[in-house]
This record gives sequence, structure tokens and C-alpha cells, in this order.
Amino acid sequence: MKLKYFSHSAFQITADNGKIVLIDPFFTGNPNSPVSVDEVKADYIILTHAHGDHLGDAFQISKTYDAPIIAVNELADYAASKGLKAHNMHIGGGYNFDFGRVKFTIAHHGSKTPDGEYAGEPAGVVVTVDGKNLYHCGDTGLFYDMKLIGEMTPLDLMLVPIGDNFTMGIDDAVKAVELANPKLAIPMHYNTFPVIKADPAEFKQKVEAKGKQCRILNYGEEIVV
Ligand code: NI
Ligand code: MN
Repeated sequence: MKLKYFSHSAFQITADNGKIVLIDPFFTGNPNSPVSVDEVKADYIILTHAHGDHLGDAFQISKTYDAPIIAVNELADYAASKGLKAHNMHIGGGYNFDFGRVKFTIAHHGSKTPDGEYAGEPAGVVVTVDGKNLYHCGDTGLFYDMKLIGEMTPLDLMLVPIGDNFTMGIDDAVKAVELANPKLAIPMHYNTFPVIKADPAEFKQKVEAKGKQCRILNYGEEIVV
């Protein structure tokens, strides 16, 4: 599979079978986005929660490509209420799609749609594609059960928020990597807004000091996993 980083918490997974999955596709209003909403497409869209910087352009893309929104029950219902295809899931549950497996995890955060609707619990997500396990933490504070997530699904990749203020800052994010023990950590959710300014090089250096691997992805960079 391939993994592309757009900035903030927005990623694209391309499975070997060609299916394209977007996670938290926030382009419009994202000052760091290397693409506009017209330049992406999707077969599926995974949302960790409903805050505007994660819901982003999801509904427009879903409508354009008839791509199901995969999310916790309440947020999926909200998508369905707007006429979109949705696949309702919830924390702790997994499901096998034609691109791979999706399992939602806890995240310590909040969730409300930009127009003020209840959107259920925020989540992280473990996605297994072509035999590789990827954990996108969503927005969250540090929690010890990250260790359990890594034990139940040995992780190839962990996408970790480091921007502080709304999520873990660098030092907590380093501890999160130690707990979940992925083969490779990738920082996210930083430098989009002044309040989440953070230095990914500092995160990388501190992760490597713990004997773990880290890679900083440039905005628009795609890697083969
Ligand atoms: Ni959030
Ligand atoms: Mn956020």
C-alpha cells in the first residue's frame, strides 16, 4: 500500500488493488494543504471525529464519488442524514472492507459537527491494508491503552498528533510511540494554526533517542509501505 500525507491529520491510503481511502480530508481552509478538494478522489472516507479540521471536505468528496463515510455510529448517522453513504461502526469494532480492515479505538477528545450537531465519541483508527497495520490516533491526549492497541495489532505505522493545545504535545507523543511501539512513527496535527505550532524535527530526535524510528512526511509526500 501507499500512504500520502496532505498536512494536518489528512492522509490518503492507496491499496494495492487500487482502492483509495482518505482519512480526515481537510483541504479547504487548511493553509498547508498541497491540494484543493477538486484534486483528490476517494472510494472510502474514514473520519476520526467531526471537528471541522477533520470532517473537512469529507462530505463534498463523499457526494462527488459516492464514497461511504466510515465513522462511529453517531457521526455516520449524521452523514447519512445529509444523504451520503455511510458505514456505521463503533469503538472496539472492526470490519473488513474491500481495501482492508478498519477498527476504531478510543481517543480522549471531543466531537461536534461544525453546525453544532452531536457526533458521538471521538476515535482513533487502526487500518490494515495489504498486511500492513497503521494506527491513526485521531485527536487525543496520551493514554496508557495505546500499549494495548499496539499489542493487539502490531503496528507498522503510527500517525501521531504532536501539536499540543488540542492534542498531545511532543513529549506526550513520544511516550505514545513508546507505548504503542510501531515500526515507524509519523508526526501530524502540527503547524496548521499558530496555536499548534510544533517542531517535527524535535519529535523525531526524541523518538529516535528512545530507539524508535520516525519519519517526517512533507506536505504532499507519498511513501510505499
Ligand atoms: Ni478535534
Ligand atoms: Mn484537530
